[in-house]
Amino acid sequence: MNLTFTAEQEMMRKMVRDFAVSEIAPFIEKMEKGEFPREILRKMGELGLMGIPVPEKYGGAEMDFTSYIIAINEISRVSATLGVILSVHTSVGTMPILYFGTEEQKQKYVPKLASGEYLGAFCLTEPSAGSDAASLKSRAVKKGDHYVINGSKMFITNGGEADIYIVFATTEPKLGTKGIAAFIVEKNTPGLCIGKDEKKMGLHGSRTVQLTFEDMLVPVENLLGSESDGFKIAMANLEVGRIGIATQALGIAEAALSAATTYAKERQQFGKPIAFQQGIGFKLADMATSVEAAKLLVYRSADLRTRGLKCGMEASMAKLFATRTAVEVSTEAIQVFGGYGYTEDYPVERYFRDAKVTEIYEGTSEIQRIVISKYL
Ligand code: CAA
Repeated sequence: MNLTFTAEQEMMRKMVRDFAVSEIAPFIEKMEKGEFPREILRKMGELGLMGIPVPEKYGGAEMDFTSYIIAINEISRVSATLGVILSVHTSVGTMPILYFGTEEQKQKYVPKLASGEYLGAFCLTEPSAGSDAASLKSRAVKKGDHYVINGSKMFITNGGEADIYIVFATTEPKLGTKGIAAFIVEKNTPGLCIGKDEKKMGLHGSRTVQLTFEDMLVPVENLLGSESDGFKIAMANLEVGRIGIATQALGIAEAALSAATTYAKERQQFGKPIAFQQGIGFKLADMATSVEAAKLLVYRSADLRTRGLKCGMEASMAKLFATRTAVEVSTEAIQVFGGYGYTEDYPVERYFRDAKVTEIYEGTSEIQRIVISKYL
């Protein structure tokens, strides 16, 4: 495994780190009050960050997958909200069209997604189909040159803000996973109804909504792949998406470790900085060790992907471990800060609130264990 980043990858890290500190950090307060970061996303589009791994031919930056992961890592250290928006937009909002779309579909949608003019969303989960994604009930019936889709979706990241929705629906329930199709749905499609905006524990600047499809009319040319390809498309893109979420979690954990270490060196109790009290010093040592291990798993899976090798098991391992690390390290960071850590005056309570959902979305930790054990 090559653990050295290339000069190009290091440039990406520096550029995104500077952008996150100068442009994203000042916007955190507004996002915490629920404001969606439209303006930041526009600037990210100008910098080429909305289509990092997309070929130049389709308007992207045509950089390697590791560079994309570096960008999510640096953004998530400052804002996990923007980390998930970028990961969902790219991994599961744009890449399904790039990998499974016709040339016409790619030409029509990918350049707009890669430039940030369009935002992408991924609609798999339903009220009664979460971990058991194949049990989804949304139904697509072909009528002439359209599919008529009825059903509902739940917990859709970027929902209500997105311009393009990758929607999964069954054309033939009897066929199980082989009866699921994927569609490219534009935001103004008749019958696409944006529902409840979830009030979440964290990630306050990201939008998470319910959707309903009421005789939603999708042109046949917006079918992605064949009618039986949908589940495979969902799984293949989730596999890569999980590296993105693992990276978001890594960014949160790094931020929590950094805040706790800085504070522990400054805070004096019993005549010396608490970092030199063994109870706190050992805590920081454990936190740093977990963060380092998470980083190795994340960049190992990204490197496999960059080299075009299989990375399904490694992606799930990275997600399982990095998301647990984010929850544990952010919890311990609050402990290091003591009472101050429980207040909104310090960022560690936000890291803690943002961390939890990483163990849930894009496949819960239990689902990652199913995937890993299947490989074993
Ligand atoms: N790539 C390509 N194909 C794949 C695949 C992959 N990574 N994984 C599975 N498949 C294929 C299988 O090969 C199989 O095809 P064949 O029948 O031809 O062999 C087919 O898909 C069905 O596979 P399984 O039998 O393994 O399917 P299953 O019903 O047992 O489900 C599961 C497997 C792993 C549990 C799956 O349901 C799953 O991942 N569940 C979690 C759902 C999830 O992650 N949801 C996240 C929602 S999106 C989100 O959260 C985004 C956000 O907002 C942040």
